[in-house]
Amino acid sequence: MKAIVVTDQAAGTAGMTLAERPEPPAAINDVIVQIHASGFVPTEMAWPSTWTDRTDRDRTPSIPGHELAGVVTALGYGTTGVSVGQRVLGLADWHRDGTLAECVAIEARNLAPLPGDVDFTVGASLPISGLTAWQGLFVHGRVQAGQSVLAHGAAGAVGSMVTQLAREAGAYVIGTGRAADRQTALDFGAQEFIDLDNDALEDVGGVDLVFDVIGSDIQKRSASLIRTGGTLVTVVGPPEARPADGLAVDFVVEADRAQLSEIVQRVRDGRLRTNIGNVATLDDAVAALNPTERINGKTIISVRP
Ligand SMILES: NC(=O)c1ccc[n+]([C@@H]2O[C@H](COP(=O)([O-])OP(=O)(O)OC[C@H]3O[C@@H](n4cnc5c(N)ncnc54)[C@H](OP(=O)(O)O)[C@@H]3O)[C@@H](O)[C@H]2O)c1
Repeated sequence: MKAIVVTDQAAGTAGMTLAERPEPPAAINDVIVQIHASGFVPTEMAWPSTWTDRTDRDRTPSIPGHELAGVVTALGYGTTGVSVGQRVLGLADWHRDGTLAECVAIEARNLAPLPGDVDFTVGASLPISGLTAWQGLFVHGRVQAGQSVLAHGAAGAVGSMVTQLAREAGAYVIGTGRAADRQTALDFGAQEFIDLDNDALEDVGGVDLVFDVIGSDIQKRSASLIRTGGTLVTVVGPPEARPADGLAVDFVVEADRAQLSEIVQRVRDGRLRTNIGNVATLDDAVAALNPTERINGKTIISVRP
């Protein structure tokens, strides 16, 4: 099969090449999915799991990409819950070969059904950003109606999902980002916008929940805005700051079929809009994943129509 592979950590995304790889076998509880569209997170080359397996052994050449939408073509021994021919979307294991390929072997529990009226490109854009927003807001942040949420990077892949889901939950959302992101963030539902390069973050006043996708100084300054009993949720590593009288949580997104189905349902009925910045073919993936200009939203690789 054709796949994007990486062998050199120091080279980053520039080290990606299009190569021929063997089709993966289906292990116990696995599914083979013929991939129609694949999502990629730009920081993947910095994750140890891109380079090593669970016992820390080198697993290069590895295939990056952890989001997929496609069709099930085979089942491993004992696999239940999905069937051959079914349209699915899902989040692939961090330590196994990923989804920038024509096929992937993936555990069935990492997949959810993709309804026929949702495009594969849309499906592939949802697993990481949708589940990260869902779990950060509802599982770790326990957001409630009437609370205020500071959604960093609100025009980005995760932040745009955070903004929409928090609004739907009845929260008041203050989005942040670059000056050029203001209208995009407001269009996704942010009620206010802070341009982090030019506005004073401290003018926001108190908030109940900070959803951090940036880290460093922005995270530290945000933590001090959190009201008593509030929460800092971050997805960029162990928190470097804590609210004076609240919780700080960092987490890595997990596959969850029920949550993924909730997200897809919201896309179908118009409550949630995905944030795709560019779509390219697998043949053009290396160039598309090494953009020369800033792209807002996810780059999706359309592997087959
Ligand atoms: N732990 C997890 O499970 C998990 C899951 C998903 C994502 N993540 C991490 O979350 C981060 C965001 O992911 P994403 O897919 O949402 O990325 P993204 O689509 O690039 O969104 C990030 C947004 O924040 C903006 N931003 C970043 N730094 C900024 C700064 N200093 N000032 C103003 N705006 C800034 C970006 O603008 P620019 O493009 O101009 O910088 C972009 O609009 C990544 O580090 C990713 O690895 C973690």
